[in-house]
Amino acid sequence: MKKFLFVLSTLVCALGAMMAETPVYLDDSKPVEERVEDALSRMTTAEKIAVIHAQSKFSSPGVPRLGIPEVWCTDGPHGIRPDVLWDKWKQAGATNDSCVAFPALTCLAATWNPDMALLYGQSIGEEARYRNKNVLLGPGVNIYRTPLNGRNFEYMGEDPFLTSVMVAPYVRGVQKNGVAACVKHYALNNQEVYRDHVNVLVDDRTLHEIYLPGFKSAVTEGGAWAIMPAYNKYNGDHACENAPLLLDILKGDWAFDGVAISDWGAAHNTEKVATNGLDMEFGTWTNGLNWGASNAYDNYYLAKPYEKLINEGKLPMKDLDDKARRVLRLIFRTEMNRNRPYGSLNSDEHYAAARRIGGEGIVLLKNDKNLLPVAPGVRKILVVGENAIKMLTVGGGSSSLKVQRETLPLDGLRAKAADKGVEIVYERGYVGDINGEYTGVTTGQDLKDSRSADQLIADAVKAAKEADMVIFIGGLNKSKHQDAEGSDRTDFALPYGQDKVIEALVHANPNTAVVTLTGNAYAMPWLDKVPAVVQGWYIGSEAGNAIADVIFGDVNPSGKLPMTFAKKLTDYAPHARGDSLVYPGVNGDVRYNEGLDVGYRYTDKARKGGNVNFAFGHGLSYTTFRLGAPVASAKEYDGEGTFTITVPVTNTGDRAGAEVVQAYVRDLKSSVYRPLKELKAFRKVHLAPGETKDVILQLDKRAFAFYDPATKLWTVEPGKFEILIGTSSANLPAKLPLHLTRPLTWPDSAH
Ligand code: BGC
Repeated sequence: MKKFLFVLSTLVCALGAMMAETPVYLDDSKPVEERVEDALSRMTTAEKIAVIHAQSKFSSPGVPRLGIPEVWCTDGPHGIRPDVLWDKWKQAGATNDSCVAFPALTCLAATWNPDMALLYGQSIGEEARYRNKNVLLGPGVNIYRTPLNGRNFEYMGEDPFLTSVMVAPYVRGVQKNGVAACVKHYALNNQEVYRDHVNVLVDDRTLHEIYLPGFKSAVTEGGAWAIMPAYNKYNGDHACENAPLLLDILKGDWAFDGVAISDWGAAHNTEKVATNGLDMEFGTWTNGLNWGASNAYDNYYLAKPYEKLINEGKLPMKDLDDKARRVLRLIFRTEMNRNRPYGSLNSDEHYAAARRIGGEGIVLLKNDKNLLPVAPGVRKILVVGENAIKMLTVGGGSSSLKVQRETLPLDGLRAKAADKGVEIVYERGYVGDINGEYTGVTTGQDLKDSRSADQLIADAVKAAKEADMVIFIGGLNKSKHQDAEGSDRTDFALPYGQDKVIEALVHANPNTAVVTLTGNAYAMPWLDKVPAVVQGWYIGSEAGNAIADVIFGDVNPSGKLPMTFAKKLTDYAPHARGDSLVYPGVNGDVRYNEGLDVGYRYTDKARKGGNVNFAFGHGLSYTTFRLGAPVASAKEYDGEGTFTITVPVTNTGDRAGAEVVQAYVRDLKSSVYRPLKELKAFRKVHLAPGETKDVILQLDKRAFAFYDPATKLWTVEPGKFEILIGTSSANLPAKLPLHLTRPLTWPDSAH
């Protein structure tokens, strides 16, 4: 008995000692901040330095001595990138890293449905989690300033309000999985030409009203745990070293408590990155040869050079502590969160989400004589165009993917047509870019065709004459100077002679529909002759099925353009005067002279009779809707609480469908320039045939404010406003007057 009691008391003591020794940072019953401080207090300077820079292409070390794990990042933003080698961009050759490609973010934005953004974030977050990635390098929220920007497809269009509404649920959806969203590219990375050094000169008001709201919403509404400072400069300093962007705005006004992770190779100077708010350095090009250091990663600005300055007392420990603290917080929120779910990869649910988002984002731009959906009498359809048969998930830069499967448009159409007893024949029409490789991922497609351009057209025309209907599927692709990272487009027109093919087809068969897969607007010289036009974006794994759903009417289109489709390049303000300083820049500077006049804010002003083919917010349906008279909660508003507008919407057709009710604010008299109207509320409503629902739009004081650079305050001037309500920026039949009763101001930090 004595012996037993002795053993028992020894055990109890040992257990007690073990429990007493459980460090706070490992105790997940403790608040994260306490754990962070505890972990930080145990770290040496060298360990703090280690966690703030890369150890491989996409990872940074943890603190092995303390059992704190590595951080693994992944692109983003449309699917989880396949693994590359430790220190090379080449494929690692893994066999478990193929993914579902979700629709590009332009397509997501075109759904105008925040529920789709949440579904998207949740789904891609699950894929990232399953692949054991802690940071998803996305979403992208740079503004569509010019249709030439090669990376527009990765962003959410031209409007700061639409972007802000869509980004927050994406971020929340990702982070539910214990995966950080890293919002990019902060800020003003609105072109790819000269992206690594171009110095953006933009006035403060435009910065706050147009270019920052998406990022602000991701941080303050979405609660983003990471952000990616961009390559370009702003006011002379690289974004990664930019105190106003990182310290004053992001970490000051927006109280961002996450990690600022440099774009790959975007850091340039130790003192500046150390002092001005960057937290982690990735992708720097150091050769490791002439520094006498053991490996290239030690040469990073935030590695040995920073450690040396800290040890010499030339830079303060408090900044290093702040960086390490943020990295620890990220690790506790992600990898060291034992309650996070396990995630899933290539699940049926993810394919279903991709198809659903794709279907909701496809925009029916034009549909004369109800050419679409395919009418019951149609027995034979000719499909023409390279994008009907080309995998578009490979290429385009860092968003390139290795998909588990990708349904091509022709295959999606064929499958559905077979079910409906419709014959599909195919003709190429033109040869674009047959390359199908990106950093070692190959599509395996052989798209060679030796026919001449004239022969290709002649063959397509012959087939068009024999078909009941023609569907042309073209657009841009992910090759250099198309929709691709690292270069901009050089032309607003469709490439590879597609205009000629379309003209010939519609001449041969007037029942021709044009479907374009692009991330950008483009010229449509044939528009008057073509009865139906569909904007299909890049849809990813489910491209073919989502397109077939819409073409055959199983999905009633409800997408709306997130950017203006103007007639000519010069209808976009940065190109209006052909001034190279405004785009793409001269001697290292690009000056945003157009100020607030981005997208519809400019075309509204310059229109005088229609210089857009399709306006921002435009998109048709196979059914029809009637908007009843909107009712406002009041005629006067003092800026307290929210102001509500109720709009009854009826589906007057015979198919279920969805409409997006949009509200734009116009300030009738202001002491400063204000765009003619600005989107400030919208809501998508799904309606059965004959059904009516009240759509409730809520606005608050922010909808009426401008940013005053002199006072640095958001400012509402009292007086008369109008709220314009309708279904696109060019179709706003209802107008509600509103009187703002008192002046209001608030700092950017009050959100
Ligand atoms: C891109 C980022 C990307 C990073 C890592 C950079 O070139 O600009 O968007 O996340 O590479 O691949």
